[in-house]
Amino acid sequence: MKSVIYQPPYMNWASGALRGAPLICKTTHLGDLPSVFANDIAWRQSDPRQPVYRVEMFESPSGEGYLYTGVTHLHPGLIGDEYFMTRGHFHARREQGEIYFGLCGEGLLLLQDEQGKARLEQVSTGSVHIIPGFTAHRLINTGSGVLSALAVWPSLAGHDYAALAQGFALRVVEQGGQVQAKEVQNG
Ligand code: F6R
Ligand code: MN
Repeated sequence: MKSVIYQPPYMNWASGALRGAPLICKTTHLGDLPSVFANDIAWRQSDPRQPVYRVEMFESPSGEGYLYTGVTHLHPGLIGDEYFMTRGHFHARREQGEIYFGLCGEGLLLLQDEQGKARLEQVSTGSVHIIPGFTAHRLINTGSGVLSALAVWPSLAGHDYAALAQGFALRVVEQGGQVQAKEVQNG
């Protein structure tokens, strides 16, 4: 008799490694992140080929009702005094939300609404982050190891990076060995 029980894809909850289905992988290097870090001189002096983060996601259909599942692995590091972070984005379809789950490492999730009001959530193993629609989001690695977080989001959400070309309202820096959030005066 033909089995009706299929093997689903898997994720290793400790490391975020995905297996059992085709993956799409993208690595973002320091050279791909102009104007992202506050200290432009330090960014120019860094190695543009240095990987900052890698996103691995299951290949899956897109369109109304479909979800994407992906893991971001964000390396530890600093540009000047500012921690390594993802570029950060609003969703192109602003009303679409997303959920992040902390897997390993230590960091922060920076959230910012359309009025420019920003807040930070601690990301650690098991943390659950419900990102509502109309909220930009960026991961920041404040630890010494890789920060990995699982994300699930509607495939039609899309990404809008341009809306944050001026940057977020908070920057997270290391000062005297401590993690500090600094408000940015824009304009
Ligand atoms: C998808 C999502 C994550 C990020 C990833 C990389 O909506 O939020 O999968 O895309 O963490 O960050 P960005 O896209 O800001 O470079
Ligand atoms: Mn997103």
